[in-house]
Amino acid sequence: MRRITLMQYLIELERQKDWINADLRLLIEVVSRACKAISIAIGKGELAGMLGGAGSQNIQGEAQKKLDVISNEILLEANEWGGHLAAMASEEMDHPHQIPHRFPRGEYLLLFDPLDGSSNIDVNISVGTIFSVLRCPEGVTEPDDNAFLQPGTAQVCAGYAVYGPSTLLVLTLGHGVACFTLDRETGSFVLTQGEMRIPEDTGEFAINASNMRFWEPPVKRYIDELLAGKSGPRGRDFNMRWVASMVADVHRILTRGGIFMYPRDTKDPSKAGKLRLMYEANPMAFIVEQAGGAATNGRERILGIRPTGLHQRVAVILGSKNEVGRVTGYHAA
Ligand code: AHG
Ligand code: MN
Ligand code: MN
Repeated sequence: MRRITLMQYLIELERQKDWINADLRLLIEVVSRACKAISIAIGKGELAGMLGGAGSQNIQGEAQKKLDVISNEILLEANEWGGHLAAMASEEMDHPHQIPHRFPRGEYLLLFDPLDGSSNIDVNISVGTIFSVLRCPEGVTEPDDNAFLQPGTAQVCAGYAVYGPSTLLVLTLGHGVACFTLDRETGSFVLTQGEMRIPEDTGEFAINASNMRFWEPPVKRYIDELLAGKSGPRGRDFNMRWVASMVADVHRILTRGGIFMYPRDTKDPSKAGKLRLMYEANPMAFIVEQAGGAATNGRERILGIRPTGLHQRVAVILGSKNEVGRVTGYHAA
């Protein structure tokens, strides 16, 4: 494959196809630069005092790690001045961040989970950043929560960075999924996989099985059948993986197939799942569908859900099409 950088890739899309304009290109370049800065901060770890708690909580009552706060700030600062955004929303901020009046405003809204997999930071396991891009509704000058409450089908772009043995950036503009690897010597993201595809069938599943006693019957039935292996109704053995960083689990599925589930459970009936719709489930569902996979909450397509809150939670079942279809079928039975 021809090795081109992310910048070249985007410029070629802008020139040859109608998928991207200069503002969206700038947005993606700026986000990728922020991800590079986050990757460097993570890489320094304890040497730069990056590990441990920040001593604060986010709106969801979760303890923030220092790197949650630092990554959020890196993304805000990088994206404020370019003139491509109308506002930003994040897991780590109660409400949208407005673009300071001294900078021009653009037509896009950016949402992000600045640091996904926070529980893995201090134990040196892969973490990531997830982002989603929407258009600012016409006539809205100070975008509030409502401006962001658009279904996942309205996303114009989504992506994630995974900070693992390599730092990768995975991106969709609604025309397939491309993967870029950070060349740490040149500082550029380089195209390493042009067309990511999720195999339709799989022998691998990802779920936090410690929640088993709280699962709803369709999920329990599905997992029981997988665990029964060769002697059960599926007639073959399955393998289990759970990184506890959604980005890392989803990246594995984009690479070799699999099904990822964070279902609704009865542990806390006030919550419709653990993961957040706007900056975790929607961007991942967009990427997974663009790679030929499927994403549902068990009852409906994630991308079709009409959002009601910026930080709303949702059940997530995504990955290889045939397995996601089976679990969704069990919910309907
Ligand atoms: P975040 O660190 O952004 O709060 O997200 C953590 C999420 C997700 O990355 C992962 O799949 C899940 O939480 C892990 O949950 P458990 O700790 O229940 O395994
Ligand atoms: Mn997350
Ligand atoms: Mn997070």
